[in-house]
Amino acid sequence: MTRRLGVLISGRGSNLQAIIDAIAGGGLDATIAVVISNRPGARGLERARAAGIEAMVLEHGAFASREAYDRALVEELRRHDVGLVCLAGFMRLLSPVFIDAFPGAILNVHPSLLPSFPGAHAQRQALEHGVKLAGCTVHLVTAELDAGPIVLQAAVPVREDDTEDTLSARILVEEHRLYTEAIALVLEGGWRIEGRRFLPGPA
Ligand code: GRF
Repeated sequence: MTRRLGVLISGRGSNLQAIIDAIAGGGLDATIAVVISNRPGARGLERARAAGIEAMVLEHGAFASREAYDRALVEELRRHDVGLVCLAGFMRLLSPVFIDAFPGAILNVHPSLLPSFPGAHAQRQALEHGVKLAGCTVHLVTAELDAGPIVLQAAVPVREDDTEDTLSARILVEEHRLYTEAIALVLEGGWRIEGRRFLPGPA
């Protein structure tokens, strides 16, 4: 897999920033080939441009179907010779058209210890459920939402006085560290998938 990343965003882009910073600081040997947002106002677009990275908007509303949108995304990523796709707060479900175009080469970061609390508002779900340990997960992306093989996880203790905001902020710190570590691990190769498990060692 080439070390050229394509980062897909929809908003704030703090995970994108963590990847940019890790590359700039020498902690991650990779290049961000392109950043694509499905929303024109995403703050992450400015972060990318400020770092001299090509950033573009592909608005999903402009396409007739999910598949048509996904085909356009794949085309842009291919045009930029992307080897690994990193979803970083990308708020769109991806169809098999997209998943099959990058087999074993799409990563996502999710703010819970999966398989607990998939989907939206994971931190709120965790608080409302009353778990004592929350956290985040970086996983390979499959057609099922937030359900692919887990690459890395980090736990974050829940405090009695936590609100959705305070818990989200502490999880986010871990997300930033974990995502860059997971990207490095996946790019390095020498891993295999057995059943649902991401394991070190050749395939
Ligand atoms: C993060 O919490 C990520 O886990 C979730 O969406 C949020 C994106 O934040 N998928 P940012 O845009 O990276 O700041």
